[in-house]
Amino acid sequence: MGTLEATKTDEKTTSATGTRDALTVTDHRTGKTYELPIKNGTIRAMDLRQMKTGPDDFGLMSYDPAFLNTASCTSRITYIDGDKGILRYRGYPIDVLAENCTYLEVAYLLLHGELPNKQEFEQFTREITYHTMIHESLKKVMDAFNYDAHPMGMLISTVAAMSTFYPEAHNVHDAKVRQKQIHRLIAKMPTISAFAYRHSVGMPYMYPNNALTYSENFLTMLFRTPAEKYVPNPTLVRALDVLFILHADHEQNCGTHAMRGIGSAHTDPYSAVAGAASALYGPLHGGANEEVLKMLQEIGSISNVPAFIKEVKEGRGEKRLMGFGHRVYKNFDPRAKIIKRMAEEVFEVTGRNPLLDIALELERIALQDEYFVKRKLYPNVDFYSGLIYEALGIPTKAFTVLFAIPRTSGWLAQWQEMLEDPEQKIARPRQVYLGQGERAFVPMERR
Ligand code: ACO
Repeated sequence: MGTLEATKTDEKTTSATGTRDALTVTDHRTGKTYELPIKNGTIRAMDLRQMKTGPDDFGLMSYDPAFLNTASCTSRITYIDGDKGILRYRGYPIDVLAENCTYLEVAYLLLHGELPNKQEFEQFTREITYHTMIHESLKKVMDAFNYDAHPMGMLISTVAAMSTFYPEAHNVHDAKVRQKQIHRLIAKMPTISAFAYRHSVGMPYMYPNNALTYSENFLTMLFRTPAEKYVPNPTLVRALDVLFILHADHEQNCGTHAMRGIGSAHTDPYSAVAGAASALYGPLHGGANEEVLKMLQEIGSISNVPAFIKEVKEGRGEKRLMGFGHRVYKNFDPRAKIIKRMAEEVFEVTGRNPLLDIALELERIALQDEYFVKRKLYPNVDFYSGLIYEALGIPTKAFTVLFAIPRTSGWLAQWQEMLEDPEQKIARPRQVYLGQGERAFVPMERR
């Protein structure tokens, strides 16, 4: 063993039990030994940099494509234990929140860290309710889309366009300005989403109604025809609100990572939410709910399920069972359990969706098949949510929009936390360059 190098950090490395919270590492290239402090179960990647082979060496880095084992931030918002199937917002288990709260209460909790008291809740609800209208010129932006434009494409572009309507939003360091944009975004997402749907079916836009709750209002903007009265079914309103609660945040997933990454450049929140929503749009992320429905329709009947499972297994990753598998959950997704239960309540009102039987059979076979068991692939949040959206009358293409609406509160809570975190800077990963070294330029005629 060589000499012991002190780390440059001054972290306390002795735990309460007297054991040292530290990692001793020997760099066999130089024979030097280093002691790295361990804090919150992590070592600092920057502590590796001191490990050099010589003065010209850049220093050691960690390599972690797709962030399989790298924490990019500390957070106090959402806790997940993927092995135990635990999900908590600000310490409250997801099933308790889904049972007892409305989506707006949960949005407040995510943003402020505590559940609102009556007065705080009324004030927050009022702020959201009175920001649901969108600028008439923004409506014209939406009019410009082709009749068959994908609702997520419309949502992403329209949210990005909002930054041009609220130039003060660029002042991300002013907490009051931030609050205003947070209220606007949470309030206007349902309006923009409903307008995107109405545009795609050639129906006139239905303006928000301040007498309605968040979820009632959204369903009404989606489905009310101007000629008729529309009263959304309370069971369906509650189901939608619970779906919104379940989708509100999920710590550092792909979309939230995009939100924090874009926000770290001090970009305005509209542009950052548009970027986060773009990540969500992908079929491996929030776009999976749309893909699940397409898959169930393609399978068509229970008798075709074994052949489909066989194709997935033989495809070895090429063809996936959409709505199955998760980067973090390796036991079960607690959200999927709640949604599966809720689907039954919804189908009592709307009639049973025949695709449910195909989904149940897929799940039954997959949960006992060695391929899926070995890889710890379980139904995720998207496996059953699409069936409920379909039962609510929402077209398949609009499913991911229904994910983006509630996730907006999570994105904004994470964005605020990032801006207030003194340890955060502009996000800028390193790379391992494996390309050409310097070479001589060859003029075109000689190439
Ligand atoms: N169907 C079939 N095989 C799968 C599936 C699936 N749904 N998911 C993963 N696998 C296999 C992979 O082929 C791989 O097999 P191998 O070890 O033989 O190569 C193994 O399981 C591990 O898969 P990875 O892709 O390494 O897992 P990762 O954690 O990177 O991916 C993901 C997680 C993207 C969710 C993946 O499971 C998937 O593509 N699922 C389908 C899409 C989906 O439902 N996405 C929604 C996720 S929830 C959300 O984002 C809201």
